[in-house]
Amino acid sequence: MKKMKHIMKDGVKYGLQKLGYRLVPERVIQQYSERSNDPYLSVYDRADRIANPANDRAGDDFSKERRFYTLYQGAQQILKNNVSGDFAECGSKHGHSAYILADIIKSSSQVARKLWIFDSFEGGLSDKTDKDRSTDLGDTTVRKTKNQKDRFSSSYDHVKNLFKDMGFVEIIKGWIPQSLDCAAKERRYALAHIDVDLYEPTKAAIEFFYDRMDEGAMIIVDDYGSKTFPGCQSAVDEFLETHTHSFFLVSHTLGCVIIK
Ligand SMILES: C[S@@+](CC[C@H](N)C(=O)[O-])C[C@H]1O[C@@H](n2cnc3c(N)ncnc32)[C@H](O)[C@@H]1O
Repeated sequence: MKKMKHIMKDGVKYGLQKLGYRLVPERVIQQYSERSNDPYLSVYDRADRIANPANDRAGDDFSKERRFYTLYQGAQQILKNNVSGDFAECGSKHGHSAYILADIIKSSSQVARKLWIFDSFEGGLSDKTDKDRSTDLGDTTVRKTKNQKDRFSSSYDHVKNLFKDMGFVEIIKGWIPQSLDCAAKERRYALAHIDVDLYEPTKAAIEFFYDRMDEGAMIIVDDYGSKTFPGCQSAVDEFLETHTHSFFLVSHTLGCVIIK
């Protein structure tokens, strides 16, 4: 009977996922309704609905919701402490976290701050180095690496359309690090969200933004601690060995925060 229940649940879950829905246990819904006035969850869900095509929301998880909460809090702190400079995101995919950042800037009326969005928009990740393969999960076969690339593909036009009414958002299409060589070089930064999964672009992006930041500015690296993308942690750890910083915090559910 128990086994039958499991099989039925898996079947329903799979069917719903195919249709672009999620199966959420009642106890989780209760928890959500208790928090229905939570301003973070409201912007997280709104951004998710707007940015992510229905068939791409099924794989969403609570780890991501928690990681983006770190981002949300970080951005609020930056505004509260008046740390000057633009916001930036490397790795936007369909624009979920970028939309959260844009919404925070817009609601604060500090639209003199720009939000720079960098993504290849070319079918996903750049090539893996040995540092990206240094764990069992990172060491993917050629076919699996291609699947990862395909999974992260996104459309420039879709993301451009998301921000069409937000003149403070600049979208730069191209591969990091080469794409960093643009007007963004001349700006200062208060917050950089790095979500490009692999060693080389993560390292290049951290170095680029840190050089253009004042004390109190913040870098958040989404995949620090990921076993699937171990190169992220290597990039951050190597950077910390050679640069001074005031705080380094590791989140319990992946991701880390560096404060200059
Ligand atoms: C995990 S996704 C980002 C998720 C996103 N922050 C969100 O809110 O859903 C990683 C993104 O990084 C981009 N990317 C990976 N390597 C890159 C590189 N070297 N240059 C530019 N974009 C890159 C991919 O195209 C992909 O959109």
